[in-house]
Amino acid sequence: MDVIGQLFEAAKAAQARAYAPYSRFSVGAAVMTPEGAVFAGCNVENAAYPVGTCAEAGAIAAMIAGGGERIAAMLVIGDGPELVTPCGACRQRIREFAAPDAPIHVADATGLRRTFSLDELLPFSFGPDNLGRQ
Ligand code: THU
Repeated sequence: MDVIGQLFEAAKAAQARAYAPYSRFSVGAAVMTPEGAVFAGCNVENAAYPVGTCAEAGAIAAMIAGGGERIAAMLVIGDGPELVTPCGACRQRIREFAAPDAPIHVADATGLRRTFSLDELLPFSFGPDNLGRQ
């Protein structure tokens, strides 16, 4: 299976496990490392609403816990007529681990809808290099 196919299947499976009883808006996300490992996450809401976490944050946490270090590509899946792009906070989370040209794929149940580069989603960003880390 190609990269997008692998990310799509992993993100879709995670979306099906989302815990979203308040918004009823289930999101899945998957990252692929440069080595080809795939890690997925889903949104996990909370009765104390601001404590809920996004699918992208879950996928990144799974990657770090699993020993991955960099995001080569990412896919986010969500339903509805609008593109489900990462929220602002998650764009910054992705920025920590991905290059400006890393593809961020946006999908729904029918498949891939659009691909952005990280730099398109978060231009002129602040990142590890600002603090002397490359
Ligand atoms: N959500 C994500 O998990 N990722 C996104 O890219 C957009 C929004 C979640 C947060 C919340 O649980 C629900 O979707 C509605 O905002």
